[in-house]
Amino acid sequence: MIVERIENDLRQLYRHQPDRLKHIYGVVKTANELALLYGANTKDAKIAALLHDITKIKPQSFHEDAILNCYTPEILEEYSPPLYHAFSAVCVAKSEYGIINEDILNAIESHTLGRPNMSLLEKIIFISDYVEPNRTYPSCCRVRPIAYLDLNQAIYEALNDSIEFHENNGGKVPPIAYKTKDFYSK
Ligand SMILES: [Fe+2]
Ligand SMILES: [Fe+2]
Repeated sequence: MIVERIENDLRQLYRHQPDRLKHIYGVVKTANELALLYGANTKDAKIAALLHDITKIKPQSFHEDAILNCYTPEILEEYSPPLYHAFSAVCVAKSEYGIINEDILNAIESHTLGRPNMSLLEKIIFISDYVEPNRTYPSCCRVRPIAYLDLNQAIYEALNDSIEFHENNGGKVPPIAYKTKDFYSK
């Protein structure tokens, strides 16, 4: 029931952004494959995948308000604005859909940069977001087959590539990205 409600809302929200919806369903598909492969709960994987970008369409003020309501102001300092949606999505998952499963909430929250010592579900959502079939940049294509062989290695490679990309393009890389990369380099 909850899945149908989220899917209806997503269709409505992203009716003018079909590519975003396509991406979300790419994450759903990949997360399902990886959950079956590695033995995670497929229903939790589907809910987390459906919700991970549910607030991506919202304006900056929405994310900021949600973060100030559900988290602490430090989040706004530590993360760059394009990453706020992971936090506001957790707020929406709780308040709009009554999600209380901490593993699902953590998977939504850590989908952009991961974090050290992620649960299996968190790893699956993080890497599914990176390698889902609609992602076509070279790093995603390179990491995709690794995700089906070794999740930890895939996470390391994904972080390594995206940190390098952001550093080369003058973007601010939040400390958590380095911490995740270091953790999964072992
Ligand atoms: Fe996202
Ligand atoms: Fe995403």
